Amino acid sequence: MVLPSGWAQRLRVPVVAAPMTGVSGPDLVVAACTHGVVGTFPTHNASSPQVLDSWLAQMTEGIAAGTPTGAQAAPLGANLVVHRTNARLHSDLAAVVRAGVELVVASVGSPREVVGPLHDAGVLVWSDVASLRHAELAIAAGVDGLVLLTAGAGGQTGWANPISFVRAVRDRFDGTLVLAGGVSDGEGVFAAQVLGADLAYLGTSFIATEESLAAPDYKAAVVAATLDDVTTSTQVSGLAANVLSSWLADQGADAGGGFAQDRLLGQGAVWAAGHSVSGTDEVVAVAKLVDRLVRDHQHARSFPDPSTRRQ
Ligand SMILES: Cc1cc2nc3c(=O)[nH]c(=O)nc-3n(C[C@H](O)[C@H](O)[C@H](O)COP(=O)(O)O)c2cc1C
Repeated sequence: MVLPSGWAQRLRVPVVAAPMTGVSGPDLVVAACTHGVVGTFPTHNASSPQVLDSWLAQMTEGIAAGTPTGAQAAPLGANLVVHRTNARLHSDLAAVVRAGVELVVASVGSPREVVGPLHDAGVLVWSDVASLRHAELAIAAGVDGLVLLTAGAGGQTGWANPISFVRAVRDRFDGTLVLAGGVSDGEGVFAAQVLGADLAYLGTSFIATEESLAAPDYKAAVVAATLDDVTTSTQVSGLAANVLSSWLADQGADAGGGFAQDRLLGQGAVWAAGHSVSGTDEVVAVAKLVDRLVRDHQHARSFPDPSTRRQ
């Protein structure tokens, strides 16, 4: 088990509020970091480099203001799309380094080019991967951690079974392992740890929080949906992504053609969500969501006997 140095004391539960296009902004990130889970956001949610600088300032100031003197907030991380079509990659990377972000999660491509500059600046680098081959390439590139995208994850998804994927990667990597896909409660977080992951990456559950940027009707649709209402489609970005079937039904035919950053950003309001909609039953403040995760994680840890399971 490998959490980055010093993180254990800063986290109330081993959870990352995962980066989400159109959903994660300053309020969500500040609430996550000040309530004891890692807060992250995709830099492309800021509409321009100027807005990104101002968001980063808002986040660092908000986190400092919300953290009692002498205490340490949970880490702040940024997600960078490292695909060649991301024209803002270099300027966004420079902005997150200037702001003192502790972690970058590289997605949609090889982290090879960003590992060096980020390590030079003292920033941890994780890469999200959906196959063993990509995990091995990321490990060879020198990443500190891997986010394993598994079947049922919201947004850009994986297809591997989480139990098999964690076991297979744990055998060949002793850095930080983060399980993404389907986790919505403390029991799921504990299950990820039992398998060999260090942290769980929760996206869908954080859509239905008061602090998320999601529109009210999207939050309500996430609350109303069950896992049967989730469909895998390439419509959003050209890559397989899990979305609410009700949203997909209103879209035109899939244009095809593979991933491009412009295509992702040009989509407008996408109702992405994963199988864990089934564990998301109301819109709550991040504080309440994290309190529940802490409570149920502690319960799962102390009463692993199935007969004592929470009803
Ligand atoms: C609405 C939405 C938008 C997402 N956007 C991004 C993104 O911009 N970058 C990224 O790396 N992952 C993105 N993801 C994936 C999440 O970071 C995470 O891997 C996933 O939500 C975990 O699975 P869960 O939804 O079952 O918790 C998105 C997920 C959702 C639900």
